[in-house]
Amino acid sequence: MTDRAFWEAKYENKETGWDRGGFSPALSTWLETLEPCRILVPGCGRGHEVIELARRGFDVVAVDVATPAINHMQAMLEKEKLSATLIHADLFELELEPFDAIYEQTCLCALQPTQWEKYEQWLHTQLKPGGQLLALFMQTGAEGGPPFHCDLSTMKPLFDVSRWQWPDNNETVVHPSGRHELAHLLIRI
Ligand SMILES: C[S@@+](CC[C@H](N)C(=O)[O-])C[C@H]1O[C@@H](n2cnc3c(N)ncnc32)[C@H](O)[C@@H]1O
Repeated sequence: MTDRAFWEAKYENKETGWDRGGFSPALSTWLETLEPCRILVPGCGRGHEVIELARRGFDVVAVDVATPAINHMQAMLEKEKLSATLIHADLFELELEPFDAIYEQTCLCALQPTQWEKYEQWLHTQLKPGGQLLALFMQTGAEGGPPFHCDLSTMKPLFDVSRWQWPDNNETVVHPSGRHELAHLLIRI
């Protein structure tokens, strides 16, 4: 099964336990300081965060490989007469103009760990120097996935300090699945 078929089956079978049904409190916190800018949402799913960013005037580009996710988001944008750029593609096939900010919510944990180094490089390339990456590291405490456990002992060397500036603090974001995410606002060096 291809990645696209895997994720499309998840939506079609209503196995979307990751979906909050609304935008994350982590985005609300970030929006207290983040000014409207050009922002990327990779693996955006049904795009609750994309809709909220569009409402607030951000120039938002959203990427997902699954047709049902893109269709849902398109319908929501049309319903609210909002605009965003939706890209239906495997993110690894994309080379976009660098962004000011990236909102990374449960995309990393959805990818196979063997793809994580490539994903970190892709994120780095997609951000301007000084750009912000809100990384929500999923904590499952379990083997296997998706979602895969994003332990900080693995995230720190993956998002190496030679390429990313780490904040002094982080926020814990409770997930409806009963799991939680660790929110770290990284700066691209
Ligand atoms: C766990 S879901 C999270 C969705 C959304 N970020 C959320 O939190 O509600 C992971 C999403 O990443 C998408 N995805 C997985 N691999 C992808 C890839 N290589 N390129 C683009 N999207 C991908 C899936 O289709 C799915 O919608």
